[in-house]
Amino acid sequence: MEKILIIDDDKMLRMVLSKALLREGYQVLEAADGDRGLEVVRQEHPDLVITDFQMPGTDGLEVLTEVQKLRINLPVIMLTAFGEVELTIKSVQFGAYDFLEKPVDPDQLRRTVRQALDSVKTSEQLDVIKQDEHLIDERLPEEAVLVGKTQQMKRIFKNIGLISMNRVNVLIQGETGTGKELIARLIHYSGNTKDKPLVVVNCSALTETLLESELFGHVKGAFTDSIRDKKGKFELAGEGTIFLDEISEISPNIQIKLLRVIQELEFERVGGETIIPMKARIITATNKSLEKLIEEGKFREDLYYRLKVFTINLPPLRERREDIHDLVVHFLNKLNKRFDKKVNKIGDGVIEMLQQHNWQGNVRELENTILQAIIMSRNDVLDKEDITLNTRSGGKIEEVQDFSWIRSLADLEKFHIERILEETSWNKVEASRILGITRPTLNAKIEKYEISQ
Ligand SMILES: Nc1ncnc2c1ncn2[C@@H]1O[C@H](COP(=O)(O)OP(=O)(O)OP(=O)(O)O)[C@@H](O)[C@H]1O
Ligand SMILES: [Mg+2]
Repeated sequence: MEKILIIDDDKMLRMVLSKALLREGYQVLEAADGDRGLEVVRQEHPDLVITDFQMPGTDGLEVLTEVQKLRINLPVIMLTAFGEVELTIKSVQFGAYDFLEKPVDPDQLRRTVRQALDSVKTSEQLDVIKQDEHLIDERLPEEAVLVGKTQQMKRIFKNIGLISMNRVNVLIQGETGTGKELIARLIHYSGNTKDKPLVVVNCSALTETLLESELFGHVKGAFTDSIRDKKGKFELAGEGTIFLDEISEISPNIQIKLLRVIQELEFERVGGETIIPMKARIITATNKSLEKLIEEGKFREDLYYRLKVFTINLPPLRERREDIHDLVVHFLNKLNKRFDKKVNKIGDGVIEMLQQHNWQGNVRELENTILQAIIMSRNDVLDKEDITLNTRSGGKIEEVQDFSWIRSLADLEKFHIERILEETSWNKVEASRILGITRPTLNAKIEKYEISQ
């Protein structure tokens, strides 16, 4: 028989809950305050804890934290009073399974309790994920870990091995989010450049003039506001690597300058005369077809051949679906660490579901999907219900949602409120009911977080 512990200083409430749960066939234990509650947890090993927030002595949040320490897989349901949204959010952050608003609705109680207990059962049947050992390479920084066992990816690994020891220029081609920057880093860190600088320039982010001075530097007075000499990225890269991302975006003028640098292995700062030698390896990346741009007369063919001494074509994720499992394991490990979470099991059918998705945003989209699921997860299992997949609209690539901005409690609160508002189609009455806050409070928060429809 499953044991449920109720911790609340309100005797009446304990009785009501107790009765409802006994009727469902559970064994019920009671404690009138947090300290006694924790005693019972230690001695009686309940399967589930329902605890109040505000109690004399050890409060609900402390109970929750302690329970987590005692037994990670013991679900805790918090009892909240109307309007305790801060506490509610905090409790979820601290790992509460769910919360029930007082006065407790018996149906809701039954459902939530059942769900919580079932989630433990599911979790107990699943194995803890294991990181592939060959991925743990102490010599490489974490941001250069590349996952992939498919033929296509193995060939790429081999090529990286070959080119990392030779300073040839490399052109990396692939759709957005396929890992072009990651490959560039890996090439840099795998070879004899690894202790030299790696300099990254996003060519699409700057205007032509700014990009030119960014790449080559300038001398004092070259522009009206250049009050001192400035080194460019080529100089900063020294004997290391310069990674030019989105190379398709550079103007004809910069294309000529770049060609010259590659041919003559030297350059001058903008407005300067001193000749500076160029020793860096140039890695470029593009998600557009340079060949097509050449046909259209937008990219110089001679530069193209100088850049693509070696070419790496990264296949889209949908063409290597067998890698999805390893990638999920990798991202769970990486993101658990970053967000201090413990989602280390994968639910039934999850991988199959992910393998059926189209992944227009490729590995980045997968990483974001896992991040979102980790945030949503209420236990240690990555479940189907926690996963939201982007749906395509008319075959066009949809904006891939980025959740890495969620850091603080306030971020999380904003995110949660936005989600509920969307879910309720901005029905504020409904939204404030779900959120457990009053409408004026909801309005205040919408304003505070600048949430708009
Ligand atoms: N094979 C892989 N193994 C592990 N992580 C990967 C892999 N491929 C991509 N990633 C991760 O996916 C994210 C996106 O990769 P990256 O930024 O390298 O893509 P990109 O091709 O440069 O995208 P864009 O064209 O949009 O700039 C990064 O967090 C990266 O670490
Ligand atoms: Mg990139």
